[in-house]
Amino acid sequence: MSETAVNDTPLMTDELFQLFAKFIYDFAGIRLSDQKKTLMVSRFQKRLRALGLSSYQEYYKRVKADEDETIIMLNCISTNTTKFFRENHHFEYLRDTLIPRLVESRCQQREIRIWSAGCSTGEEPYSIAVSVSEALRERFPNADPDDPFCGWDVKILASDISTNVLASAQRGIYSMEQLPDRLAPDFLRRHFLKGTEALTGAFAVKDFLKQVVRFRRLNLKDATYPFTKKFDLIFCRNVMIYFDDPMKNHVLNMFHRNLSDDGHLFLGHSETMFNNALFKPVGITVYRRL
Ligand SMILES: C[S@@+](CC[C@H](N)C(=O)[O-])C[C@H]1O[C@@H](n2cnc3c(N)ncnc32)[C@H](O)[C@@H]1O
Repeated sequence: MSETAVNDTPLMTDELFQLFAKFIYDFAGIRLSDQKKTLMVSRFQKRLRALGLSSYQEYYKRVKADEDETIIMLNCISTNTTKFFRENHHFEYLRDTLIPRLVESRCQQREIRIWSAGCSTGEEPYSIAVSVSEALRERFPNADPDDPFCGWDVKILASDISTNVLASAQRGIYSMEQLPDRLAPDFLRRHFLKGTEALTGAFAVKDFLKQVVRFRRLNLKDATYPFTKKFDLIFCRNVMIYFDDPMKNHVLNMFHRNLSDDGHLFLGHSETMFNNALFKPVGITVYRRL
């Protein structure tokens, strides 16, 4: 089949789509169904124009030869939908059950380490930071009111494969639609700043929350993860839906290895534990490390 359609629009053959899909799977573990072809074509078109390329075949060669372009290509096809306090029962469980437990078990070190893996544009790690701060303030009502983490060393690592989403996450500026309705005004005032002038209708995450979140690029497909310290909690929600069973098992094994003995893992609402014997369910899509 020719690579150029009659009207000179570049054509994505099924064979080429399969080559891209295999490359994406090998690189990131993301399985693209055949239905994703139209999406791929529309998203890659802009890249072809920007690079002055006339066919998807040339683009494929470019992606394979140049890792920077691989990342840009992944930015184009990844699904990054997210929201503050998405699946709010997880944040309630964090606030009401897990942080109070960690306050007891980590009372010597006063350290809490959390990883948001597949953090997209940052709403998830910032929601975690808000929930930890709220839980600690509740536990330590007499702590210095100017210290939102009550003397605890809280660190949240937020990682994603996509560089675009990480850049946006770091800015910490969002439209109001990213927040759930009906949040109490004083809760909003404690954690967010209302945008004015050019930022009217937007809000910014307060600096004290940004200070505990560190963003970095990490591909969950990597054979090893670069951590020396274990995490108390890992959130990996709505990420594994794009992975097949071998990739899911790889990621779950790596989470198990990087969680503390009493650590917990949060998955998305449609993600199950895939018969993995490494974790035990303790709540709605919340698992304890075995
Ligand atoms: C739908 S978002 C989920 C965001 C957030 N966790 C939530 O539940 O709201 C999925 C994220 O997973 C990331 N992702 C996909 N494959 C990945 C991989 N191999 N390594 C790291 N992140 C990946 C995507 O870039 C995307 O930002």
